[in-house]
Amino acid sequence: MIEQKKYSVPSIQEARKRGRKETNYVSYEFDPKLENFGVGKKYIIKTYGCQGNLADSEKMSGILQRMGYTEVQEESEADVILVNTCAIRENAEQRVFGEIGRLKKYKQTNPHLIIGICGCMPQEEKVTSKIRDDFSHVDIAFGTHNLPNLGEYIYQATTNMTRMIEVFSEEGDIIENIPTYRDHNRKAWVNIMYGCDEFCTYCIVPYTRGKERSRRPDSILEEIKELINEGYAEVTLLGQNVNAYGKDFTDMDYTFANLLDDIRKTDLKRVRFTTSHPRDLDKATMDVMGKGGNIMPHLHLPVQSGSNHILKRMNRKYTKEEYLEKLAYLRTKVPGISITTDIIVGFPGETEEDFQATLDLVREAKFEGAFTFIFSPREGTPAARYPDETDPSVKSERLQRLNELVTVGSLEGNKRFENEIVEVLVEGTSKTDSAILTGYTAHNKLVNFKGDLKYIGEIVKVKITKAYSWHLAGEIVE
Ligand code: 5AD
Ligand code: SF4
Repeated sequence: MIEQKKYSVPSIQEARKRGRKETNYVSYEFDPKLENFGVGKKYIIKTYGCQGNLADSEKMSGILQRMGYTEVQEESEADVILVNTCAIRENAEQRVFGEIGRLKKYKQTNPHLIIGICGCMPQEEKVTSKIRDDFSHVDIAFGTHNLPNLGEYIYQATTNMTRMIEVFSEEGDIIENIPTYRDHNRKAWVNIMYGCDEFCTYCIVPYTRGKERSRRPDSILEEIKELINEGYAEVTLLGQNVNAYGKDFTDMDYTFANLLDDIRKTDLKRVRFTTSHPRDLDKATMDVMGKGGNIMPHLHLPVQSGSNHILKRMNRKYTKEEYLEKLAYLRTKVPGISITTDIIVGFPGETEEDFQATLDLVREAKFEGAFTFIFSPREGTPAARYPDETDPSVKSERLQRLNELVTVGSLEGNKRFENEIVEVLVEGTSKTDSAILTGYTAHNKLVNFKGDLKYIGEIVKVKITKAYSWHLAGEIVE
């Protein structure tokens, strides 16, 4: 029974603030009392949401393994269960609450089990209050800014039976060298910046992830060099808005284009990056992408809507025409580049005409894939207060029409590779057939083909025999 309590609940009002405070860079220090604390004990981390969360989970794994914990696949065997959450849409949050309720049963068989919730959801005041008041079986809750303290929370919850709920509203220092246990041995995530200052009116991220702050280029390049030495072939640079990288440096002029160019010069085989903001994607970056080499010919560039009226209400700060102009320039620099996007339908005030403009844009932009969403009002964001008169059934129907069009674009984008020979970084075998290998091409297309297990981890040449809507089939070229 957990008796003592430590509570610190966040505030959306505080999270909105953007101070002038400079970013400090400090190195992670492992508290000696945590040494061997987890030996003989097991953990599992369940991750929801974006690549940022996947990368955070790898850091939490790193801390736990440094403490001596080992990873298990079954919840029933775990001594620590962490749920790393996403706040971006309401329905995903509901699922997480269901999941947390479901975990309670494991406490009956293992009374020492520690259940933790972390990531973006606890950054919301109402979520953390609800966990505090209604989910007494949750032992620890912490936010995105508190991740480096994971070891301490587990230590306190285990040793002193203290229920630890600690969520800072404001970001702290950038902590370098957090131990990291990566899920993959050939592909790695590398954070280049944290936070977001865009404040799109629908989005909760600027509140859950704090203000934009960039890692120093030497730290990033050092990490990439280590990854190359360890045998990694592909790195995806991560940031909520990678094109804003470096804008917060006060002592030097060093932008995302500079960083990308410096990574291009390393021995890394493949570099990707996400997410880009159409307003901040500049010519200099597109020019560097045009130099090719290890920079992969794929860009994920979320457009959100094809209606200028809706884009304005979303505070996206670009028009449909400006977006298309950037794509046209990029296509002159990187011929054949594959473009994917994110689109929200049913934003408050979206008319059938606005929606038609989105469909037109999808055709014009020739997207080869899109993540599509129905607008979900997030408490504390401006759009949650906009009057919304569109019937939910109309929104669902728009989503369906959009998805049909996106599927057509995806198939068309895939068809251009039929009979071509492409390079595939082989990741493993198909879930349904262990004789089939799977991996991704430079253009980020999923390919399935027959092949020996010895190719896993290699970049191999594959001749594409058939294009489907969401994958390619091929034959290995020996
Ligand atoms: N409702 C629906 N979709 C959203 N996204 C962000 N916020 C919301 C919201 N409130 C989508 C955007 C973004 C992607 C990660 O999630 O399309 O690019
Ligand atoms: Fe979800 Fe955004 Fe948090 Fe990623 S940063 S987990 S997308 S709310």
